[in-house]
Amino acid sequence: MSVPRERYLSNVWRDGIFTDKVLFCTGGAGTICSMQVRAFVALGGNACIIGRNVEKTEKGAADIATVRAGAKVLGIGAVDVRDPKALQAAADRCARELGGIDFAIAGAAGNFLAPMAQLSPNAFKTVIDIDAIGSYNTAKAVMPYLVESVKKHGNTGKAQPTGTGGRIIFISASFHFRGMPLQAHVMAAKAAVDQIAHSVAIEFGPYGVTSNVITPGPIAGTEGMERLSRSDEHTVTESKRQIPVGRWGEVKEIADATVYLFSEAGSYVNGNVLVVDGGQWRTSGAN
Ligand code: HXC
Repeated sequence: MSVPRERYLSNVWRDGIFTDKVLFCTGGAGTICSMQVRAFVALGGNACIIGRNVEKTEKGAADIATVRAGAKVLGIGAVDVRDPKALQAAADRCARELGGIDFAIAGAAGNFLAPMAQLSPNAFKTVIDIDAIGSYNTAKAVMPYLVESVKKHGNTGKAQPTGTGGRIIFISASFHFRGMPLQAHVMAAKAAVDQIAHSVAIEFGPYGVTSNVITPGPIAGTEGMERLSRSDEHTVTESKRQIPVGRWGEVKEIADATVYLFSEAGSYVNGNVLVVDGGQWRTSGAN
């Protein structure tokens, strides 16, 4: 029986799938998020990255723009995700200058190791504010644009062609799946992030918007892993031994997961947590 290829296979990871589409990403100058944005831009899209530090954000945007001739990447600094007005103004500026917002990543996060006994109420609140409230603020700021994107490109009620838009990804962590010492504030914040993502999935699914979570495991080259690498070799070896696949991840593996969720291949995935950690949380519980 001859079955047309498009009935069982989506065209993803090919040039141009995000042509004329716009990605809005908070924390977009960070190690993981900048690579997610880079992949999106390499495949044809334009992007706007948001950060607190003006210089880092503008430089990050300029770096990302080099991946493709003609790419437009806007870096808007001095924007704190804890400030809903500033975030809304950034989303509005992105839409004005780049022609809308079709995809979003809520990636801004704050983290430090601290025993609960030494965690001040303000320290706890700070991480809740950045991760949880910041993700909520991001969703609120971009959602009208994501709904508009779906309307513009047509919510057909069928599998959405690649690049249709109306997709959001929240970056979380696996600490709260099983528990981890020194991370009470982050466990609480990331549990909230997951639930905010799921609420978006349920309430905006009917508009054709999908919402999912990516949970990176220990990724080489990130600030946390760099710090661990500088400690003794035994700690590094032990860290890798606890991961079923026996190694740390690469930022590219998070970028690939992002392309999948934003592509035609991920069009029926909504309200999920995609854990990209080599199976680590199932054996050791946390990064
Ligand atoms: C205990 C601490 C602390 C620490 C800050 N605080 N660092 N408490 N141990 N190491 C306390 C302060 O004393 C203060 O409480 C409160 O937290 C707020 O601190 P501020 O410095 O005023 O806050 P702010 O300037 O907003 O900075 C936020 C931050 C900071 C989260 C504290 O670290 C930051 O900006 N981080 C952004 C970058 C980042 O963290 N990236 C990592 C993301 S990675 P008091 O009571 O004194 O007022 C990620 C995944 C990790 O999230 C994966 C790892 C494998």
